[in-house]
Amino acid sequence: MRVTAESQRELGNDGAIDAMIITIDGPAAAGKSTAARLLAARLGFRYLDTGAMYRAAALAAIREGIDWKDPAQLESLADRIRLEWQGERLLLDGEDVTDAIRSPDVTEVTRFVADSPKLREKMAELQREIGSTCNLVTEGRDQGSLVFPHAECKFFLSADPHERAKRRVADYAAQGKAMTWNEVLQAILDRDRADASRPVGALQCPPDAVVISTDGLTVDEVVAKLEAVVRERQAGLSQAGSD
Ligand code: C5P
Repeated sequence: MRVTAESQRELGNDGAIDAMIITIDGPAAAGKSTAARLLAARLGFRYLDTGAMYRAAALAAIREGIDWKDPAQLESLADRIRLEWQGERLLLDGEDVTDAIRSPDVTEVTRFVADSPKLREKMAELQREIGSTCNLVTEGRDQGSLVFPHAECKFFLSADPHERAKRRVADYAAQGKAMTWNEVLQAILDRDRADASRPVGALQCPPDAVVISTDGLTVDEVVAKLEAVVRERQAGLSQAGSD
């Protein structure tokens, strides 16, 4: 699995200044993606959706019909597939899968792929490679804890599971998929358990992260909170640099 040099150039800025890494971790449907994307746009940073990378690997696994219980098959998947970012579109072996990876079927099995330590190692490698080329807002489960432990700014977004299920039902409805609140809530609770309990790359709140509950906040309010912390950090860094 690799990210081509060309797609990397498209992904970030020119890397002329010291890259700043901002990590946003948290459980499913806590509002991370929208907030991270908007924050990146406001700062002029690149946005990286690491969940999409695991989802693309899961889609490849579905297509190959691999046995989820066979770690060797999951591991070898990491060497076979090619992921490329073109802006915010994700290509799997040259095919744009940005929309296909959002289906409930892919969501359900992504956890098996994400459980593979070897595959996670490859994903982390790619993510660090991208982070070395540009200022980055990266979003996932393990970004602040494992992939970028020295990130300048770390956030952990949380929200009540009932609220998260409500948001996810609306997301699915917007894609024309009818799901009941109850089935989505159950899926979210299952995913929380799986994400928090895997031996490598488990969802965790880094001790130095700023924790934000998005309950009752609009997206704009969440982004404003994030941006305020980042601007303060940037001011501190440039002050330290000039001392
Ligand atoms: O963020 P999203 O919900 O799209 O992620 C899909 C799944 O990918 C998560 O439930 C988790 O199992 C896995 N994931 C992960 N580590 C990340 C991002 C996502 O294990 N950094």
